[in-house]
Amino acid sequence: MRTGIFITGTDTGVGKTVVAAGLVMALKQRGLNVGYMKPIETGCVIMDGEIVAKDSRFVRDVTGIRDEMDLVCPYRLKAPAAPSIASRLEDVHISLNYIVDQYFQLSLLHEIVVVEGVGGLMVPLNNNELVTDLILALGVEAVIVSRPTLGTINHTLLTANMAKMLGIPVAGIIINGFGKEAIGLPERTNPDEIEHFSNVPVLGILPWMKDLDANAGRPGSLLSEFAERININSLLQSDDGY
Ligand SMILES: Nc1ncnc2c1ncn2[C@@H]1O[C@H](COP(=O)(O)OP(=O)(O)OP(=O)(O)O)[C@@H](O)[C@H]1O
Ligand SMILES: [Mg+2]
Repeated sequence: MRTGIFITGTDTGVGKTVVAAGLVMALKQRGLNVGYMKPIETGCVIMDGEIVAKDSRFVRDVTGIRDEMDLVCPYRLKAPAAPSIASRLEDVHISLNYIVDQYFQLSLLHEIVVVEGVGGLMVPLNNNELVTDLILALGVEAVIVSRPTLGTINHTLLTANMAKMLGIPVAGIIINGFGKEAIGLPERTNPDEIEHFSNVPVLGILPWMKDLDANAGRPGSLLSEFAERININSLLQSDDGY
């Protein structure tokens, strides 16, 4: 079985945290011991004297994961910017070796660790490394989260092809937020087109859930929708150790 998976996306705000939380919950429901990691989060805020990473907090809140925040999200940065920029402002160096060490610690505690990326694949982490370098350093496969709407074929194929060109296997694509905007011809036809041209399976389509509110820590129907609509068995089949 797979022991780690990296959730990337075609862009920021596309639903990586929602997909990661849904995946952790669905795997836990199957009886697996699951960990979550968001190695770098920018745009963190200070609350009650503590620096709060909202993605990690949401996933912890809804999944019951209790690992220390320093393991789950070792780099919590304030500026709402790319990690290379936010870390420069705080005079922090983002080290991939350090993240790999923390990931290794988490993988000793769990059967599978779901790692959430930052933005998309080509986001700089420091002066000379991108998210793609982090995925390669972790040695895990990627899942791409995509929008359902017009324009997503281009963004998804760019992401899938860049991953493949760099030697990162893509385990699947999850289309997120179906129905947030009116469902027309592109929304109905994009999944097949993406699958055909990327040669990567679309693992499922997650609807826009009105009862889900990540900011309020409310998962709504995320677990039931995820378990029903996403092909988790295919996601668990492993090519780890590439
Ligand atoms: N399927 C959905 N149903 C309802 N709300 C959603 C859904 N997907 C995402 N959202 C909402 O959209 C916002 C962005 O989603 P999310 O935080 O998962 O994106 P992200 O890709 O993780 O962003 P980031 O790049 O900041 O990490 C959140 O407020 C979340 O609650
Ligand atoms: Mg997120």
